[in-house]
Amino acid sequence: MSGNVIEMRSISKSFGPNRALNGIHFKLKSGEIHALLGENGAGKSTLIKVLGGIHKPDEGEILIDGKRVDIQGVQDAQSHGIGVIHQEIVLVPYLSVAENIFLGREPVTRFGFKDKKQMNSRAQQMVEQLGLNIDVNTLVGELTVAQQQLVEIVKAISFNVKILVMDEPTSSLSDEEVNHLFITMEKLKKNNVSIIYISHKFEELFRITERITVIRDGTYVGTVNTKETHPNELVSMMVGRELDNFYTRTYARQEEVVLKVENLSKENVFEDINFTVQKGEILGFSGLMGAGRSELMLSIFGADPYDQGTIYLNGEELKVKECSEAINKGIAMVPEDRKGQGLVLINSVAFNMTLAELKNLMKNKWLVSEQKRKDLIDKYVKDLRIKTASSDIEVSSLSGGNQQKVVIAKWLATQPKLLILDEPTRGVDVGAKAEIYSIINELAKEGLAIILVSSELPEIINMCDSVCVMRNGKITAQLAQSELSQENIMRYATGG
Ligand SMILES: Nc1ncnc2c1ncn2[C@@H]1O[C@H](COP(=O)(O)OP(=O)(O)OP(=O)(O)O)[C@@H](O)[C@H]1O
Ligand SMILES: [Mg+2]
Repeated sequence: MSGNVIEMRSISKSFGPNRALNGIHFKLKSGEIHALLGENGAGKSTLIKVLGGIHKPDEGEILIDGKRVDIQGVQDAQSHGIGVIHQEIVLVPYLSVAENIFLGREPVTRFGFKDKKQMNSRAQQMVEQLGLNIDVNTLVGELTVAQQQLVEIVKAISFNVKILVMDEPTSSLSDEEVNHLFITMEKLKKNNVSIIYISHKFEELFRITERITVIRDGTYVGTVNTKETHPNELVSMMVGRELDNFYTRTYARQEEVVLKVENLSKENVFEDINFTVQKGEILGFSGLMGAGRSELMLSIFGADPYDQGTIYLNGEELKVKECSEAINKGIAMVPEDRKGQGLVLINSVAFNMTLAELKNLMKNKWLVSEQKRKDLIDKYVKDLRIKTASSDIEVSSLSGGNQQKVVIAKWLATQPKLLILDEPTRGVDVGAKAEIYSIINELAKEGLAIILVSSELPEIINMCDSVCVMRNGKITAQLAQSELSQENIMRYATGG
């Protein structure tokens, strides 16, 4: 035997005229953790959807333990021992955690009824094994994105998989949750489970994987041993060139205060928040997951009421009860949860991009100017290098990172005075990240006031004029640019 549990040979797959995979090879050894790396839209998710039985390849073959197989569908893939955690969460929101885990294979009593008690206790056990603190009776729709992602993981593992595929499982997990996940992965590996791991986070790849396969534009670039490579080599394999300027920043803070937040409080969520953002400034918000950053931003944006305090925009008191009013006043926000809050997935790229901006695109009182709309869309597709076959296709068919760029475009199109970015580069590849940083920098240079909420410390440190660190709903420090370091931020974020 070759020692390969999976061998994918010359796999090709097109969606209409778009060739997503072009003769890809991939080999997974027994008991290894093998990363799949590539830019947004490179074809990673498509490749694992072929393996998981969601897409049928146009060409190529798949071997499991050296034997050719024809994977007929999702259940067929499962029967071959393949479990997939997909990039986009596919749980049913109105069912409980336990019901989701056991969907379609609920344990039954000896009379043939669903055995809810057994289901719940087994689910609870699985959840706790992963070190999670979630009640399995909770409806999935009530969980945070991170918790939902963890439930997906529990569900995939519960199938007694031989081959586990994880498509960006950590994109919204906290460090602690990532640690738990990695411990679980190591355990699975000891039990001879082989893992395909997709992530844009290099530090994770270097921590957990043995080998890395890079793909570019649907073609195979190469496979390297993690111990023998370094980030620069990976980047040039991914993008086909070296990236010289990763962070671009010209500091251009002006005197004029755009946003002033005074004594803002919301019971049990955030307390006594005070800060200002000036024209041309990028103000960072750092903190651990659950520190209250996103909730605070949603309140400023009018999406969530606060109890006390005052917000001023350009010196005028801002009293908005709805996002639409905030948008009219000149606030734009790229939310954390792009699927829930940012995009209408079944609509086109074009529709989504101009959704927030219809009023400025009107030809008259009733009609949208198609020309203006088209120009705007073309501009952003080009500026943000959004990889899409046309702007008329459904947003849901774009790769994850490109969906994120559509959300950013949507809000830039409103020409805001204040732009709030909540984890804007989550799930975005290195090349596109560099592009987004350079766009943010340009916007600041033009005088936009920007709030950047991010869990990525290097991003915060390299992009911000100053940073508010939050812990348990309070700002524990506001650090000037000269005081920004990972240690300093972590100290105030953890209280240690
Ligand atoms: N269902 C679909 N219909 C049409 N095109 C699709 C579909 N799924 C994927 N594509 C296209 O195939 C290409 C590869 O997308 P894929 O999702 O595999 O990228 P990816 O490497 O996973 O990217 P990311 O890092 O952003 O998740 C993209 O051009 C994408 O738009
Ligand atoms: Mg993907």
